[in-house]
Amino acid sequence: MSATPLFRSPVLVTGGAGFIGCNIADRLATDGHDVHVYDALSRPGVERNLDWLQRRHGRKISFTRGDVRDEDSLAAAAREASAILHQQGLWRPCRHRVRAGGRRLSAQ
Ligand SMILES: NC(=O)c1ccc[n+]([C@@H]2O[C@H](COP(=O)([O-])OP(=O)(O)OC[C@H]3O[C@@H](n4cnc5c(N)ncnc54)[C@H](O)[C@@H]3O)[C@@H](O)[C@H]2O)c1
Repeated sequence: MSATPLFRSPVLVTGGAGFIGCNIADRLATDGHDVHVYDALSRPGVERNLDWLQRRHGRKISFTRGDVRDEDSLAAAAREASAILHQQGLWRPCRHRVRAGGRRLSAQ
């Protein structure tokens, strides 16, 4: 049985197609929340996580393919969100710069 959703508008999950992000998105949708997955699909294979989420939860999951470094795209997604969970991650050397940039943009 799902509880009354805490948030009225979608929860934005950056990196929402990734390992941690898709599990958070699944939990939120199971609890009755609308979830906006924002992901560049840059890690190979994560599109399968997105397919899984959409099959399980249908219209509760919306998706934007976007990069957290794209300020306009991320700001547009954040504007509609009631909360933001920043789970985007990279394993490449620039990952700290990208994560910090994404956190800064999410916070704005
Ligand atoms: N998995 C763990 O056990 C674990 C433990 C501690 C910390 N972390 C950290 O949590 C974060 C998420 O981990 P994960 O295991 O879910 O990683 P993951 O690679 O499965 O997911 C990261 C997601 O971010 C997306 N992404 C990457 N660059 C992006 C960008 N510029 N814009 C938008 N989306 C982008 C990828 O496509 C992917 O879907 C990472 O920073 C990781 O270092 C993970």
